[in-house]
Amino acid sequence: MIVEEIEQLKKELNALIMAHNYQLPEVQDVADFVGDSLELATKSKSTDADYIVLAGVDFMAETAAILNPGKTVLIPSHLASCEMARYLDPKTIEEYKKAYPESKIVLYINSTAECKALADSICTSANAAKVVKAIESDIVLFGPDANLAKYVSKNTKKKVIPLPPNGHCYVHTYFDPEEVLKIKRKDGGEVMAHPECVEEVQAVADVVASTGGMIKHVATSNSKKFIVVTECDMSYRLKKLYPDREFIPAWDNAICLGMRQITLEKIWESLKYKRYKVQVDNKIAQKARMAVERMFELT
Ligand code: 13P
Ligand code: SF4
Repeated sequence: MIVEEIEQLKKELNALIMAHNYQLPEVQDVADFVGDSLELATKSKSTDADYIVLAGVDFMAETAAILNPGKTVLIPSHLASCEMARYLDPKTIEEYKKAYPESKIVLYINSTAECKALADSICTSANAAKVVKAIESDIVLFGPDANLAKYVSKNTKKKVIPLPPNGHCYVHTYFDPEEVLKIKRKDGGEVMAHPECVEEVQAVADVVASTGGMIKHVATSNSKKFIVVTECDMSYRLKKLYPDREFIPAWDNAICLGMRQITLEKIWESLKYKRYKVQVDNKIAQKARMAVERMFELT
């Protein structure tokens, strides 16, 4: 019933529902497009919908709004926020820039619009190493995820300085390398880990990839079984795409509480009452847009 009403409201508004790969199964099912952070940003640029309902967390909706000044971007819940983005603020970026004036600033898309406005380029977990390799400096200030910064540092020949030193995602720090290996010894299969995991977990993985990268990896792998070391709803996404393969979440309770704020009811309310409109200050949006567009140019 609610699904039919959502479909009807979508038609009336010429709206597009975009969902991140971590969304609840029923939210993924009602979405017109499901993807990782990079795919959501890219797709938002090419849609001719008047309204974009972003079923994901705040920085994803903000990025869609930054890239699409002519469209209305709605986020169904004010509580859908990414904890990691809070590790970084403009003051910290300015202090680091003073200490390393010759550096370039590459920020993870999981950051606020105010921080993005100070970056030379944005990156996502799908293209972080590529962006850092391509940017015109051998010293790169990278934030807010220190684990992704380490991953990038290993995969480029550049000096990558994490800002701040301890930024991380609480969901991805749940995982323990020994536990992952225990599952692998018991069940077999390939281990796919997100680069937000700590380096010890990345070290026991067969593949370290963004959520979109994991989907691509399964398509080319001969393995029938995969241990998925990231937010637990990713396994639903993978199973739906590859029903003949087996996906074992490394931990069933690895839940992103920000993502879980989005429900079918909240999506219905969002379409019905056109809420909550994502608004980014014009000046900040303009600068942040340049940094996001730079990511597309560099890759
Ligand atoms: P992806 O871009 O890989 O989907 O990651 C987003 C994210 O927030 C992971 O925690
Ligand atoms: Fe942010 Fe972590 Fe949630 Fe991803 S899983 S949106 S990094 S809090």
